Amino acid sequence: MSNLIFLFFLSYLLGSIPFALIVSLPQGVDPRKEGSKNPGATNVARLLGKKWGIITFLGDSLKGVFALFIAYLFLEKIPYPKELVLAGTAFFAVLGHLFSIFLKFKGGKGVATTIGVFLVLAPKAMLISLIIFFIAVFISNYVSVGSLLATALLPLNIFLMNYPSEYIICSFFLAILIWIKHKDNIKRLLKGEEKTWRKIKK
Ligand code: G3P
Repeated sequence: MSNLIFLFFLSYLLGSIPFALIVSLPQGVDPRKEGSKNPGATNVARLLGKKWGIITFLGDSLKGVFALFIAYLFLEKIPYPKELVLAGTAFFAVLGHLFSIFLKFKGGKGVATTIGVFLVLAPKAMLISLIIFFIAVFISNYVSVGSLLATALLPLNIFLMNYPSEYIICSFFLAILIWIKHKDNIKRLLKGEEKTWRKIKK
């Protein structure tokens, strides 16, 4: 039990690393105070350009991948079903991003970290969600519409592709948290005030 708690805590700590701030603060920009005020890849791209947005996306997704890498190393020492350990690790990595210990339990919206962990756990389902994301962004011009649709459909994709039920449950609760974190985007979308991705700097 103590190994499992240690692993989940480590995963939460890794997920808490705010790559948006690591990338932006040295350049004199705080994404928590400008743009959408979200410390995430989209807002970094909006404020500093696509290159820095991509770097933020890679950092935020790879921290989830790294947490799962550690989980795989620990698996033999933890007397619980493998799927439960991996789904829990993924969940805590995203939870760290959403409610970072380094940001007084505030954080980003969790999309990049969710993509990272599910590319490892359920790659085919995540790839379908990524295709849904790109099509939705292309049609609507809003990154948030892509994020909301792709995360809402992820549990269904995981179910349809016969991945373990632990992954379905994990993605379902993450989708709920991600939607809650997008509440301001949803309000802006309904009012027609959301910024299109074309307004993101080159
Ligand atoms: O993944 C975050 C995206 O869906 C919205 O980001 O900065 O427009 O709130 P932002």
